[in-house]
Amino acid sequence: MSLKITGAGKGIPAKRVFNDELAGFLDTDDAWISSRTGIKSRYLCVDETLTDLSAAAASQALQNAGLSPGDIDLILCSTVGGDYRTPSLACCVAERVGARCPCFDVNAACTGFVYALEIASLFLRGGRAGNILIIAAEMMSALTDWTDRNTCVLFGDGAAACVVTAGNALRYLHLSSDAGADAAVLNIPGGGGNSPFAAGKRDSAFLRMQGQEVFKFAVGIVETEMLRMLDALKLSPEQIDWLLLHQANKRIIDCAVAKLKQPKEKFPCNIDRYGNLSSVSIPLLLFEMLEDGRLKPGDTVFMSAFGAGLTAGSCLMVWE
Ligand code: COA
Repeated sequence: MSLKITGAGKGIPAKRVFNDELAGFLDTDDAWISSRTGIKSRYLCVDETLTDLSAAAASQALQNAGLSPGDIDLILCSTVGGDYRTPSLACCVAERVGARCPCFDVNAACTGFVYALEIASLFLRGGRAGNILIIAAEMMSALTDWTDRNTCVLFGDGAAACVVTAGNALRYLHLSSDAGADAAVLNIPGGGGNSPFAAGKRDSAFLRMQGQEVFKFAVGIVETEMLRMLDALKLSPEQIDWLLLHQANKRIIDCAVAKLKQPKEKFPCNIDRYGNLSSVSIPLLLFEMLEDGRLKPGDTVFMSAFGAGLTAGSCLMVWE
């Protein structure tokens, strides 16, 4: 295919909140959260904006790629909600880091990073860009209801970025969305306004989720996507070095380990520290694996994400 990742970065809020702190104002405890989700802490914005986190991630990715903001031809942000509905988060980041290039946001919920990779590969293949900055960024703490123990304990805030350019690392990419899915399974209402012509009050509220429905979808789709990729590339599971799954629940990852019959060491995890960071999960895992030297040239890396829509996306890279 058409791209490789040449640098990565992260932007994480300073405040780390452990489960016990949530038990101070919610009917919950560390034992429930840890055993049902694998989450022990999450980082939450106090006075940071999403632009702050995204710009920090972007600057680190540029530095690691050996590039300056002027070298970037396109900025893509994966987010379900930037600091403004408009301008896009991508525009805010461009302004902050001093880039002058086309910018737009992608919203494919937790699958957004894989969708952004596909868009980047099309820009690169079409000769429309040489270096593209992809940033995934979410402030889930602003979108969840902090009186609802079913949802607020699951998510965190953060950003991760990578620079992509032409290369042969990306060997496979598949996107899907279940058009028949009921939005009630997982949604964040986007209504609001005070139009005198609207019939009734338009709903603008917090994230709502039918957790067990999402759980079943996630467990099924990860296996389906992996088998599809193996069949398309005529590979065996043993030939895959790393499986980077969206970090939504440790039990979903454990189910994938069992279904795919691969050693659990091949499934890097960071949900214990960060909680569910939506589309930030996978690029943050990539950043951490590059930082600590786990990810090496020649490694085969399968990435699989799923989220509201219900969307899903997966890809395979042979690391360059
Ligand atoms: N603390 C304590 N108890 C809690 C709780 C909390 N934070 N949240 C829910 N509970 C309670 C429920 O009220 C329920 O109590 P009840 O039996 O008295 O009614 C009980 O725990 C079991 O709730 P249930 O929803 O059946 O738990 P679960 O095992 O399905 O786990 C999730 C809930 C949300 C952790 C799990 O369904 C999940 O992870 N789903 C996928 C979510 C996801 O991936 N979302 C993002 C996709 S991108």
